[in-house]
Amino acid sequence: MNKKAVYIIMLGPPGAGKGTQAEVLAERMGLVHVSSGDLFRENLSKETELGKLAQTFMSKGELVPDDVTIAMVKDRLTRPDCEKGAVLDGFPRTPAQAEALKVMLSSLGGDVTIVPFINVPDEVLVERLSGRWMSKSGRVYHAITNPPLEKWFDDVDDSPLYQREDDKPETVRNRIQVYYKQTSPLIEYYKEQGKLIEIDGTQDIDKVTEDLMKAVGK
Ligand code: AP5
Repeated sequence: MNKKAVYIIMLGPPGAGKGTQAEVLAERMGLVHVSSGDLFRENLSKETELGKLAQTFMSKGELVPDDVTIAMVKDRLTRPDCEKGAVLDGFPRTPAQAEALKVMLSSLGGDVTIVPFINVPDEVLVERLSGRWMSKSGRVYHAITNPPLEKWFDDVDDSPLYQREDDKPETVRNRIQVYYKQTSPLIEYYKEQGKLIEIDGTQDIDKVTEDLMKAVGK
């Protein structure tokens, strides 16, 4: 039973900056960054059955079914390194996932602490995602707004960076539609619980971090 565990949920459309900010927030708060997208991509690179299944949805910009996603995140959150809590990025993404998370956290003696909603208008999202470069370990760069020190290698471990298959403009447009249909109801869901804090995601990365740190009381 860990009553003091902190669970922060990063909410926002694809490309809003959830991963970028979750990484910093987790590091500064001594929490683990749990990204459902990274977990799927890890499974894909290891060619697991889960990875192969997830890929059939991810390549079209559709959501992976709730049951497999919930089981995967549950497995991650119950590992010892999440004892103090986690910064969740990309999960929950449907009302069913949000309800499952509530049950999951309650069995761990915790609850959702705060939900920063990073708001960015649609026209900026496609541009951000088409310039995005990623490291295998999940660090995120942008060709213009956040370039690596050396093109195209990771600043930390020097591994080659790559561009995501689902960042093609037509797939991004579908991901945005899917977000509005299936994920945006969570804005109201967490607002009603008094947990939602809206952050202006159009500002510089550092300014968004500053607002987030204020929102989480640090
Ligand atoms: P996932 O990997 O979660 O993708 P996403 O939610 O679509 O979000 P992104 O990672 O694309 O964007 P982000 O908000 O993290 O932005 P980032 O920080 O990278 O999911 C991928 C797929 O997996 C889904 O489509 C689905 O198929 C599946 N999946 C995952 N979770 C699931 C779930 N729970 N249920 C079912 N299916 C699931 O930033 C983007 C770019 O902008 C970067 O280049 C960055 O450098 C730049 N940037 C960031 N902030 C700023 C700023 N303030 N100013 C300028 N540039 C910025």
